[in-house]
Amino acid sequence: MSSPAEIRDWEIRQEGAGDEPFIAALNEAGFGPGRYAKTAYRLREGVRAVAELGFVAIENGTLRGSVRFWPVKVGHDDVLLLGPLAVDGAQRGRGIGISLMQAGIAAAREKGWRAILLVGDEPYYARAGFAKLPPGRVQFPGPVDSSRLLGLALADGALENLNGLIRRARIDEAVCADSAPLG
Ligand SMILES: CC(C)(COP(=O)(O)OP(=O)(O)OC[C@H]1O[C@@H](n2cnc3c(N)ncnc32)[C@H](O)[C@@H]1OP(=O)(O)O)[C@@H](O)C(=O)NCCC(=O)NCCS
Repeated sequence: MSSPAEIRDWEIRQEGAGDEPFIAALNEAGFGPGRYAKTAYRLREGVRAVAELGFVAIENGTLRGSVRFWPVKVGHDDVLLLGPLAVDGAQRGRGIGISLMQAGIAAAREKGWRAILLVGDEPYYARAGFAKLPPGRVQFPGPVDSSRLLGLALADGALENLNGLIRRARIDEAVCADSAPLG
């Protein structure tokens, strides 16, 4: 007998311009308006996501999930901030979230990024290789539960050397983090 976890009719592809309204709806459903108050959101405000690292899961023409990555700086180092990662509530537990992350991580590695940070649940993100950062090395510009600050090195020693305040890598324009045009 087949279970939902065994059926994989969805595919992962790069995010395109037409996906924007569906991603916005997904993030609204997944995180609610409270997301705007989060410190991670402050780091995305006014900054465009890295266009080539946006991925979506599509099944029968319907968007099931999305992941985006934002550029940030820690001290002098350019690294990525993963998120939002969201999967349609009715489609969870099918491996879509992990596949989205793996697609993004592979593309980030290929593009030469050295490390990815995120704020999230370690038991879940450990499945994609993330681990807790040593406390006190990377400071956020607002309240963040330090046990949820996770990192993944894409190059040798990339996390060990990170030290300092995490901040926006640049300012692009006044845009909303989950409705930012990619480009
Ligand atoms: C978190 C989320 C992206 C996972 O997507 P998904 O497609 O269901 O994930 P996967 O199918 O790849 O993995 C599911 C597995 O991870 C586990 N899991 C999911 N969220 C978890 C969490 N927060 N902590 C620990 N385990 C978690 C599930 O129990 C399931 O376990 P199983 O394989 O043993 O049954 C999805 O639940 C979601 O969109 N949540 C709302 C938004 C959110 O919280 N995003 C993450 C913060 S950036």
